[in-house]
Amino acid sequence: MKQEEPILFQKYPNLKNKIPWIPLLTNVPTPIERLTELENEFDLDSGKLYIKREDKNNPIYGGNKLRKFEFIFGKVLKKKKKGVVTNGGIGTNHGLACAIVCHELNPPLKCHLYLFHQPLTWHVQRTLLLYDYFGARLHLGKGMIGTFVKFIFFKLLHPKYFLMFPGGSPLFGIGTSLGTFGFVNAAFELKNQIDQAIIPEPDTIFVAGGTIGTAAGLVAGCKLLGLKLKVHVVAVSTSLTANPSAVKRTANKALKYLRKKDNSIPNIKIIEDDFVFITDYLGSGYGIKTLRSQNAVDKVVELEGKKKDFKLETTYTGKAMAACLDYLKKQENKNKTVLFWNTYNSNDLDKYLKETNFDYKKLPEKFHRFYEETKFQCWQITNCPDDIKKNCPAYLNHEYRFWKITDCVLDEKNQRKAFEELEKVIKLDDT
Ligand SMILES: Cc1ncc(COP(=O)(O)O)c(C=O)c1O
Repeated sequence: MKQEEPILFQKYPNLKNKIPWIPLLTNVPTPIERLTELENEFDLDSGKLYIKREDKNNPIYGGNKLRKFEFIFGKVLKKKKKGVVTNGGIGTNHGLACAIVCHELNPPLKCHLYLFHQPLTWHVQRTLLLYDYFGARLHLGKGMIGTFVKFIFFKLLHPKYFLMFPGGSPLFGIGTSLGTFGFVNAAFELKNQIDQAIIPEPDTIFVAGGTIGTAAGLVAGCKLLGLKLKVHVVAVSTSLTANPSAVKRTANKALKYLRKKDNSIPNIKIIEDDFVFITDYLGSGYGIKTLRSQNAVDKVVELEGKKKDFKLETTYTGKAMAACLDYLKKQENKNKTVLFWNTYNSNDLDKYLKETNFDYKKLPEKFHRFYEETKFQCWQITNCPDDIKKNCPAYLNHEYRFWKITDCVLDEKNQRKAFEELEKVIKLDDT
């Protein structure tokens, strides 16, 4: 079901004609499900673990981006822009979501992505091909700052493009709050689900924090609604963007803007006591796979995988889940109601990836080295014969460890070769 209008506008009708918005979410309110197998594993007393299934909130690409984009693209269309330019790491989910939304709008918009280096993984390799599949133009910059400067220049030279900051969040307090409203609205959606007894009021929400717009919107929305729960923000980026001041600043900026548009909105301020900021799960940097995050991803698959059709990943949701599970291990939390906010898409993108035939040569030349330097997939390493490869569930699958997906039919020598190569590239940071 498509959202008719945000609940925020139903509660504060004055906002309706003052804040741009277009419907992009389907399947809303997003379901809340119980993770009973994990509850049993952690021996909770009266405690409960729920998940907010944001991962299929759009037919192509689910997750946290679409909530931000309903408001941001509302403005893009209102301003009659020709396209959108945005910025992020070479595997940015934000960039992919942006490419997909630009591609799916009618008429479509152009999308330019300014990308900087991040740790090379299979996720990066497949995401680069997907940007191209969905029609985005790719630009590779030198370092985070150098790329950012080029991205700003692009906007100066092309005023008909909408400039969207990385992650669709304000950066150092600069930039639009529109994306944050998506999560203020999500808090209103959660409140309705609490009122309908779909979930008791949680004690905590666990959510990944990168550019912080998602977490700040939830913190602002929950306080506006008088919910007592504490959002636990798990930093998945360095303190440059992910820090407690950014949560406060981004949340307060959004609240101030909303109140400016409708002065019946209570005048509240977010302070550091309103949320918990957790920094121990990042590992040595953004995009680094940590042992704890891989273990959390695997634990969820092992215990809930038979019943539930979502998967976590190691950059964002795996780190947030690792923090959530460690919280539940503590005796004092065995009676708590915890809501895990699933921010990652779980729709199948492999079907689009298959259509690219993994032809990375179609990408601008500067990107080819990301495929030639390191191989992550068994079929890249063994030169697996086409007739076996094309019928194998590991081929182009989003999982990079083939032994987790299938029993390999290649001979032992070839399998060993793949294992040995993969061992070299699959390094887990054990912080
Ligand atoms: C899957 C996923 N979860 C969480 C985040 C973090 O969201 P935010 O940048 O709003 O903090 C991102 C951002 O890219 C993401 O892709």
